[in-house]
Amino acid sequence: MLSHPVLGPLFGRLRQDLERAVDARSLEEIRIAYLGRKGKVTAVLQGIKDLPSEERRATGRLANLLKDGLEAELASRLERVREAELEESLRRERLDISLPGRRVPYGTRHLLSSIIEEIEDIFIGLGYRVAEGPEVELDYYNFEALNTPDWHPSKSLQDTFYVEVPGSDRRDVLLRTHTSPVQIRVMESTPPPVYIIAPGKAYRHDVPDATHSPMFHQVEGLAVDEGLSLGDLKGTLVTFAKRMFGEDREVRFRPHFFPFTEPSAEVDVSCNMCGGAGCRVCKGTGWLEILGAGMVDPNVFAYVGYDAERWSGFAFGMGVERIALLKYGVPDIRYFFDNDLRLLMQY
Ligand code: DAH
Repeated sequence: MLSHPVLGPLFGRLRQDLERAVDARSLEEIRIAYLGRKGKVTAVLQGIKDLPSEERRATGRLANLLKDGLEAELASRLERVREAELEESLRRERLDISLPGRRVPYGTRHLLSSIIEEIEDIFIGLGYRVAEGPEVELDYYNFEALNTPDWHPSKSLQDTFYVEVPGSDRRDVLLRTHTSPVQIRVMESTPPPVYIIAPGKAYRHDVPDATHSPMFHQVEGLAVDEGLSLGDLKGTLVTFAKRMFGEDREVRFRPHFFPFTEPSAEVDVSCNMCGGAGCRVCKGTGWLEILGAGMVDPNVFAYVGYDAERWSGFAFGMGVERIALLKYGVPDIRYFFDNDLRLLMQY
């Protein structure tokens, strides 16, 4: 074949082409170039009939030999290439199922949210429902209707964030300084009897330190019914304190003053850190102050149109951060808002 004037050079080129063919596509290109309808070998076979008769036999035999040989070579090469490609893709896509999986980090409920929920659950169990009110409030709801006179120190610019309303010269818009305005909003919109608690954020113009934050959380409570007395207030808060801090806690009421309650009290539980003996958390007193409370002042009923002759009620308010500090011994209120996962993931 090598000495054949046409097939010889053709065979030489074919060998070079085959050497360079490394994948299925280049093998197919060779098949088309040599054996296709217009292929080089096909052309030789088609030209045989025009050859002088003495050349036909030898050329035809050689050309058919070349055609058959090339077909067989391409088929076996194609098979090898496919096998190699399959092996390569199996290698590339191999899964090592013995590798430990990657953990997706997931969040936890914030300690303050958990405590609010715990407080809600206790009061829902006592027949209360949860109410809400706006954080941007009016002076009327935050102070006036809560019987707080204009001269009261909590109204001062030092204590309260007042809000400028664009395009208006109103001076009575503020960030609520406590959750007590929710009491007024609930009573305005609902006839008695009322049993609600109102958790939420409150704001005061305080410099942040271990026990102060300009934004903090409170849970407000209000009960209005026929014949409610100081005894009901005490029973409710003792029940709450024991469920929250432990059945063996003692509770005491100290006389206090709030403009919207009369009489008013501050409520302490015995220190859960030292059991009442006196320690750093309770500053040696054995008692922790947890909330303010009192019987709703008849003046407040007058603002919302409740008949103070028929209805009486009690109210209370507690700081959520303070309860968290006391219950879990967290030493600094700022930890709650630093978003440090080392603290947050513990609860
Ligand atoms: N609003 C009071 C405060 O922020 C807490 C408080 C005291 C709420 C007595 C009450 C209450 O409902 O009766 O300090």
